[in-house]
Amino acid sequence: MYKNHQIISNSEEDTIRIAQKIAPQFGPGDVIILEGDLGAGKTYFVKGFTSAFHSKDLITSPTFSIANFYRTNKCNILHIDLYRITDIDQFNDLGLTDYFSQSIVLIEWGKKFASCFENYFLISFEINNDHTRTITFSEKL
Ligand SMILES: Nc1ncnc2c1ncn2[C@@H]1O[C@H](COP(=O)(O)OP(=O)(O)O)[C@@H](O)[C@H]1O
Ligand SMILES: [Mg+2]
Repeated sequence: MYKNHQIISNSEEDTIRIAQKIAPQFGPGDVIILEGDLGAGKTYFVKGFTSAFHSKDLITSPTFSIANFYRTNKCNILHIDLYRITDIDQFNDLGLTDYFSQSIVLIEWGKKFASCFENYFLISFEINNDHTRTITFSEKL
């Protein structure tokens, strides 16, 4: 993954392909924060990412469940959506960080609690006027 690398996604299928392409370089303990407005394509990205590891599990938005686990042929993927979580105590009470070291963690709306994570990759999704998406890869080390 190149720092500040940008790519345009023209369709849902594009977003899935982009996610599938970068997924193999991640492993247990990696945390990826997905940022972008509602409908920008974060959950589609997770669908593509997870499919790269031949998961048979159904990928759904955890807006209400807060967290979903998917079994894959590499490790568990922990898919978190913090849209409805507003303070850091609420986040800590979920106990999700106990699972971080054994999972690849993908967090929608996670930037507000970024200080909780030592290292993370940041992937931002922007909705363009022509309805394409600009996906930007960066990282904090
Ligand atoms: N290039 C694209 N990539 C991903 N989704 C797209 C794209 N173009 C249009 N869409 C649409 O935008 C929405 C993205 O939904 P979703 O992935 O759930 O967004 P988020 O999780 O960011 O709220 C879907 O309705 C999808 O059909
Ligand atoms: Mg979503």
